Amino acid sequence: MATVVWSAAAVTLFLLLCSSIPKSESQQEYVNNKQLNCSEQETKATYGNLCNSVPSCTSYLTFKSSLPDYTTPISISYLLNSNTTAIAAANNITDVQSIPIDTLITVPINCSCSGLYYQHNASYTIKTLGETYFSIANNTYQSLTTCQALMDQNNYSAVNLVANLNLHVPLRCACPTQKQSEAGFKYLLTYLVSQGETVSSIAEIFGVDEQSIIEANELSNNSFIFYFTPISVPLKTEPPTNFMGAAAPPEDSPSPPPPAADGDSDSSKKWVIVGIVVGVVVVLLLCATLFFFCFYRQRRVQPPSPTPAAKAFSGPTHKESEEMTIPSTQSWSLSSEGIRYAIESLSVYKFEELQKATGFFSEENKIKGSVYRASFKGDYAAVKILKGDVSGEINILKKINHFNVIRLSGFCVHKGDTYLVYEFAENDSLEDCLHSGSKKYETSVCLSWVQRVHIAHDVADALNYLHNYTSPPHVHKNLKSGNVLLDGNFRAKVSNFGLARTVEGEGDDGGFQLTRHVVGTQGYMSPEYIENGLITPKMDVFAFGVVLLELLSGREAVGGDKNGSGDQMLSVTVNQVLEGENVKEKLRGFMDPNLRDEYPLELAYSMAELAKRCVARDLNSRPQISEVFMILSKIQSSTLDWDPSDELERSRSVSQISDSR
Ligand SMILES: *[C@@H]1O[C@H](CO)[C@@H](O)[C@H](O)[C@H]1NC(C)=O
Ligand SMILES: *[C@@H]1O[C@H](CO)[C@@H](O)[C@H](O)[C@H]1NC(C)=O
Ligand SMILES: *[C@@H]1O[C@H](CO)[C@@H](O)[C@H](O)[C@H]1NC(C)=O
Ligand SMILES: *[C@@H]1O[C@H](CO)[C@@H](O)[C@H](O)[C@H]1NC(C)=O
Ligand SMILES: *[C@@H]1O[C@H](CO)[C@@H](O)[C@H](O)[C@H]1NC(C)=O
Ligand SMILES: *[C@@H]1O[C@H](CO)[C@@H](O)[C@H](O)[C@H]1NC(C)=O
Ligand SMILES: *[C@@H]1O[C@H](CO)[C@@H](O)[C@H](O)[C@H]1NC(C)=O
Ligand SMILES: *[C@@H]1O[C@H](CO)[C@@H](O)[C@H](O)[C@H]1NC(C)=O
Repeated sequence: MATVVWSAAAVTLFLLLCSSIPKSESQQEYVNNKQLNCSEQETKATYGNLCNSVPSCTSYLTFKSSLPDYTTPISISYLLNSNTTAIAAANNITDVQSIPIDTLITVPINCSCSGLYYQHNASYTIKTLGETYFSIANNTYQSLTTCQALMDQNNYSAVNLVANLNLHVPLRCACPTQKQSEAGFKYLLTYLVSQGETVSSIAEIFGVDEQSIIEANELSNNSFIFYFTPISVPLKTEPPTNFMGAAAPPEDSPSPPPPAADGDSDSSKKWVIVGIVVGVVVVLLLCATLFFFCFYRQRRVQPPSPTPAAKAFSGPTHKESEEMTIPSTQSWSLSSEGIRYAIESLSVYKFEELQKATGFFSEENKIKGSVYRASFKGDYAAVKILKGDVSGEINILKKINHFNVIRLSGFCVHKGDTYLVYEFAENDSLEDCLHSGSKKYETSVCLSWVQRVHIAHDVADALNYLHNYTSPPHVHKNLKSGNVLLDGNFRAKVSNFGLARTVEGEGDDGGFQLTRHVVGTQGYMSPEYIENGLITPKMDVFAFGVVLLELLSGREAVGGDKNGSGDQMLSVTVNQVLEGENVKEKLRGFMDPNLRDEYPLELAYSMAELAKRCVARDLNSRPQISEVFMILSKIQSSTLDWDPSDELERSRSVSQISDSR
């Protein structure tokens, strides 16, 4: 019996080898638009490039920067699971440089043989309900994978794709065959064919022989290639670093639709010539526009931002906002002009007034750190003493008028210190309220479920305002429970704008900033900020997710596990809670014991799920604050419908049942 099995296996293996030998000489069958029919599972070409004797190698993909999220090396490296530094180096740009939309870049990856096919593993978290295997393969991943390969390696049926689901994404790649190595080829680049391109135009871009591409893809001399299909390009050297944009044909150039019939070479040559002529004209026009644009900008904007090399190719099709802005310290220095401007909208206090109001900054009026309670004719205010230059905070706060942002009423400059006078928050900070060890609240329940939902909603409201309704938009950069103050009605006021910054431009893609000076509070800082100094509104979303988790669990952002187990970040813990089996039970264990089970578990679950999305490692997977705010509005209105006595009733009846056993 065993011998039968063995010989059957041997025969199968032999057949397999035989069938793959001719294939490994040339590279791999071209997908030939077979990837368009997801239910067509027969064609092997759609699964990937067959392995040959090389187990792994360095390889390259091409990717077009695209809205809304994939416009910097960082975001693209998360999507394609590559190395940010390597992408930047391969394209001669910096890590956080914004890449003009539709610019083709090369992405170095490690390619390895997994089973029958070469692949590079990436993972993707579904963002919205409407996404399908096809849209993810064709649109998000730009045909670097196929719906067939995705379906093969993910167990979710096509109808079960919901937001937040994590998919395994095999990206097509290949390693050189022996024949190719002998011919001097070192890498195979997976190239995304654009509208109007032919094998010869692609060969020209990379300076390789047309025939080598034809052989690598098992094409015949007259085969037509389809746009939005991947094609392998064998390379003898690393791909050029400066071909960004050069490869992307102008959008409006006429190009033949992909006909089913074989292209005839004369007409395709004609099209190439027309394409080149139109391309040259468009490039010239773009250059002229760019020149005008730069010139105009330079005159208008004081510090001219560096013009990335990439832009020279593709022209000003992008907004000003997509440039990397190097934070200038100048704008933060306390200029006399700034002060004068501030004076117009704020009260300026005399130092003596402040001394009197705070009882000469007495211990008993000390709230925390350098913040004192002051009383001006019976009205309380908070006075914060800051060393040096705080014009940034003053300039931001004086422009902001929102119920959930702490109001700055005035200031005083005395002997190099600045005294800021704020509205008074009776109930201290959220941190004091939630975490034990606070002098004021002992262990009693400080905040009910309803209050916590209100606070979350308030903070989201404030951030939404900062990100989307101030002009220019701001990033708080230092959100944490210690900077969320609570007034007499436990309504939240976001405070401490000392690190806040404006982000140039608007929208989800724009406004990237880079800093080498990473400051913040452990547990609240987003990975891309810690690792790359990247400042975007998504860093506030991350910090907000951590605050949500504190509201739910009553634990501290780092380590404050009441069971005393290690230094664990809340943003990490939440994944353990919400993954695997018995999620709801695990969530009960995670919730703040001070809530005494007086909360609707379903809503707590929704909020935890939301928090988990906010603290996603990949900034592209995090929701915009506007979406967060919308979801919290729903949770809040459901909370208002919820009757705490129901929950009490239920837990009582449960305990009665267990008692009677
Ligand atoms: C897709 O492939 C399946 C299976 O081969 C076939 O039945 C179906 O007609 C094809 N659909 C289209 C739109 O070509
Ligand atoms: C990315 O590549 C750089 C150099 O190319 C290397 O120093 C760094 O460790 C790599 N990062 C990762 C996460 O592999
Ligand atoms: C490829 O793998 C090596 C080692 O595993 C790693 O250092 C390198 O950064 C990887 N390259 C890319 C582009 O991810
Ligand atoms: C890629 O994913 C496949 C399937 O999950 C796995 O078998 C393979 O080991 C992975 N490859 C690498 C290099 O991690
Ligand atoms: C594939 O994606 C591209 C780019 O998003 C789009 O232009 C094209 O229409 C898509 N193809 C199909 C069949 O949807
Ligand atoms: C898919 O499910 C099968 C059986 O249910 C399991 O053996 C396999 O590991 C799963 N694959 C993935 C990628 O999860
Ligand atoms: C394709 O053309 C090349 C020369 O241009 C020739 O050497 C080769 O044999 C041709 N291949 C086929 C399959 O016709
Ligand atoms: C990289 O870009 C800089 C300017 O941004 C340029 O001076 C340099 O020559 C470029 N290097 C290569 C290899 O293209």
